[in-house]
Amino acid sequence: MSLRLGDVAPDFTAESTEGDIRFHEFLGDSWGVLFSHPADFTPVCTTELGAVAKLRDEFVRRNVKVIALSVDGLESHRSWIGDIKETQGTAVNFPIIADHDKKVSSLYDMIHPNSNENFTVRSVFVIGPDKKIKLIITYPASTGRNFDELLRVIDSLQLTANYSVATPANWKHGEDVVVAPAIPTADIPSRFPKGHKVIKPYLRTTPQPDL
Ligand code: BEZ
Repeated sequence: MSLRLGDVAPDFTAESTEGDIRFHEFLGDSWGVLFSHPADFTPVCTTELGAVAKLRDEFVRRNVKVIALSVDGLESHRSWIGDIKETQGTAVNFPIIADHDKKVSSLYDMIHPNSNENFTVRSVFVIGPDKKIKLIITYPASTGRNFDELLRVIDSLQLTANYSVATPANWKHGEDVVVAPAIPTADIPSRFPKGHKVIKPYLRTTPQPDL
């Protein structure tokens, strides 16, 4: 059965470029990003791993541990990491799972046989500190992901985990947010003392509360 938001991210053990990994232990109390790649030594994947490595400080700042997956073996991954360093100008600073038996990709439903029987699509799972799945995005193999968008969604997830707010279309860190519908308008001043606007009874906004 496929995984859904709110499900506990399945635990697994796997070989990776940074040693054997027990997934839940690896995550600890952090947030996590698990993302899959169709294959080693492919052009789009090469640019993606370089892009994520360059965002390391952004992930660390958000307390997010990143782990990649490809269905090739460890030796292949190690050799590919050399190419990534050479072509993308950065060391890969997160583990890559060697999922040669497709154990993890099957567990996370990353192989979509009508797209390709042998390789994973570009899946992204964001996992909260409670080990529950907070976000699932699936891209086709031919489209490289937008990792700034991933950081933007993580900002929204982390904000909405702590405050009774939601984030509107195209929201970015620092912009006004929407007050959760469950909060009566009369309660907004005490809950959100920075001010608020009532645009419609169901659409109330307030400055981002954690700034
Ligand atoms: C790539 O990563 O470049 C790629 C992988 C599979 C299909 C198309 C592109």
